[in-house]
Amino acid sequence: MEIRDFFDSAYSTPERYWWRQPNIYSLSPEDHAGSLMTQFILRHARHHGPGRALDVGSGEGADAIRLARLGWEVDAVELSGNGVRKIQKFAREAEVQLRIERGDLLTHPFRHGRYDMVICNGVLHYIQDKETACRRLQELTRPGGINAISLWSDYTPVPDCHRVVPTFPDRERGTVYQAYATWSKPLLYFERMRVEQGHHDMPGHLHSFIKMIAQNVYRPPEPRKSS
Ligand SMILES: C[S@@+](CC[C@H](N)C(=O)[O-])C[C@H]1O[C@@H](n2cnc3c(N)ncnc32)[C@H](O)[C@@H]1O
Repeated sequence: MEIRDFFDSAYSTPERYWWRQPNIYSLSPEDHAGSLMTQFILRHARHHGPGRALDVGSGEGADAIRLARLGWEVDAVELSGNGVRKIQKFAREAEVQLRIERGDLLTHPFRHGRYDMVICNGVLHYIQDKETACRRLQELTRPGGINAISLWSDYTPVPDCHRVVPTFPDRERGTVYQAYATWSKPLLYFERMRVEQGHHDMPGHLHSFIKMIAQNVYRPPEPRKSS
């Protein structure tokens, strides 16, 4: 099955597929105790904004809507047409303005300049060519801006229930980590064997993740250890 068809189907019902917990649009970091990434994004957005943000693979727009509620100017780009329609609906209900486009991270023209924050949350394990994907995220980031990235690591195998589409988890210090070798990393953690609670349409299963906030500030790469 194609990834776009998979998510078109996942987003075909009116209720949320992701983020069904209460307070999803809360701007208070304490309301997101299950996600260090969300806490970091909110704290950063409060202290360094309002600025311009791009949420790529934005799903149903939860990250994008939170940032817009903080006064940020937010663009959302999503592969699934049903996803785009749900972002439009949820943004309307949350009374925020977003610029929403349907597109693929690898080929979208991205015509609206560079951003202070680029979020790519849960997307890169659907993309095999991670070098190009990361380069595009980086080219879209202003000096000093941040990329907020979450993807599956190969610390645990892809659960059988997810094997309906091709997926490409990365090594914890693999292609994605290496692509950001010269960026500083205010947050990097490897979340292992986390019980999936974000969606409810599959039997119970686990994922392992790479979670990284990388900042477009030069940091010399660490010397390779000699063997
Ligand atoms: C796991 S969901 C995460 C959604 C959202 N970022 C969130 O955290 O709630 C992954 C999303 O990435 C989108 N996606 C997958 N491959 C993509 C690509 N190449 N370009 C843009 N979006 C993509 C899917 O359609 C899906 O909505």
